[in-house]
Amino acid sequence: MSGSIDPHAAASPADSLPAPATPRASLADQPPPTEYRAAPSHQLLEVRGLHVWFELRGGGELHAVRGVDLDLRRGERLGLVGESGCGKSTALLALMGLLPASASVAGEVILDGRDIMAQGERSIRPHRWREVAMVFQGAMNAFNPVRTIGWQIAEPLRRHRSLSRAAARARVLELLELVGIPAGRAERYPHELSGGMRQRAAIAMALACDPKLLLADEPTTALDVMVQAQVLELLVSLSEELGLALVLVSHDLPAVTQVAERVAVMYAGEVVECAFTGELFDTPRHPYTAALVAATPDLLQATPLSSIPGAPPSLRSQLQGCAFAPRCGQRMQICERHPPTLAADADGRLFACHLNGGSPHHTLPPAPGGQAAVDSGTQDTERRS
Ligand SMILES: Nc1ncnc2c1ncn2[C@@H]1O[C@H](COP(=O)(O)OP(=O)(O)OP(=O)(O)O)[C@@H](O)[C@H]1O
Ligand code: SF4
Ligand SMILES: [Mg+2]
Repeated sequence: MSGSIDPHAAASPADSLPAPATPRASLADQPPPTEYRAAPSHQLLEVRGLHVWFELRGGGELHAVRGVDLDLRRGERLGLVGESGCGKSTALLALMGLLPASASVAGEVILDGRDIMAQGERSIRPHRWREVAMVFQGAMNAFNPVRTIGWQIAEPLRRHRSLSRAAARARVLELLELVGIPAGRAERYPHELSGGMRQRAAIAMALACDPKLLLADEPTTALDVMVQAQVLELLVSLSEELGLALVLVSHDLPAVTQVAERVAVMYAGEVVECAFTGELFDTPRHPYTAALVAATPDLLQATPLSSIPGAPPSLRSQLQGCAFAPRCGQRMQICERHPPTLAADADGRLFACHLNGGSPHHTLPPAPGGQAAVDSGTQDTERRS
């Protein structure tokens, strides 16, 4: 299969996109989807068993997303965190149906009661941008340099809403006001706007068709701290004003606490813990979450910074047992052989770890020097370009 587009490079909803990833045979062979599924009225998104595999140019496969489950209520803000390469962007691109042709996808994505992935591109297309939209990683640097900001924000409106030129123009001005960009900037070119303004414009473009769910992939990277705070405030106020549900991907845990009501932590393509934001940061249950929190600088307290030894495993190989085991100071014999599953403990806290439920197995001695028993060069960076 050929795949020629880096998913992160696609900035505009109207960019010509690669052929959509095909569902695995197991899914494709299933009967057509149930048209509509009764769901609680507060439920907006239900992701069940989402898997993504990339076929690699040199042969072999990379299993980037490994059975992710997620739920989102209407208007809810969810943070998605985890080390580089753990599959955050790939999971979001799968929800949008915007993975390159080298990817295969399996699982269920129920948006507002409809399984939008059951028939691949055919079932996702009507929902993309109209109900679920995305601000891509690096979006603010991916505007077309020879088109004005206003023209580019109007593009999804022309494509997906078939608006007249005048109606599109009016909507662009409305969107600019919504994201705090003065109307006069519509005629400016991307290089004439500051980074913060360009990120606001990227958000305006994603909101053009009035979606119910916005996926924001690291929207504040490369912005200074003041502008970061403004963009995060904007996302919260848009979510509240428009009743917009938001998935915010970020490496910046303090930023996530500022925005998200719940947080899902990903490791090696899986969600390993999901909890309300305060609970997750105050009393993390999964050893990986605890390590991530401990590795976050705290400006108010002079506590020494810790780092997580080792590196995430290669996603090209089959993983045995718990993917975090080689780096985990609390690992037990069972961890080496059996993968833990995401389950609620007695307090209703959701995490995937054999410590959940008080396993009787004894703890293994720590890896030599506290280092993970993995080759630190195994972290996957291979992409199709
Ligand atoms: N088109 C592709 N072809 C092959 N492998 C890919 C492709 N896109 C992503 N990957 C691999 O999939 C895994 C997950 O990548 P992804 O970009 O989703 O991680 P991420 O969590 O978003 O990382 P970051 O925080 O650095 O943005 C990585 O191993 C990455 O190299
Ligand atoms: S399952 Fe075992 S190795 Fe994995 S995080 Fe829990 S204790 Fe550590
Ligand atoms: Mg990413």
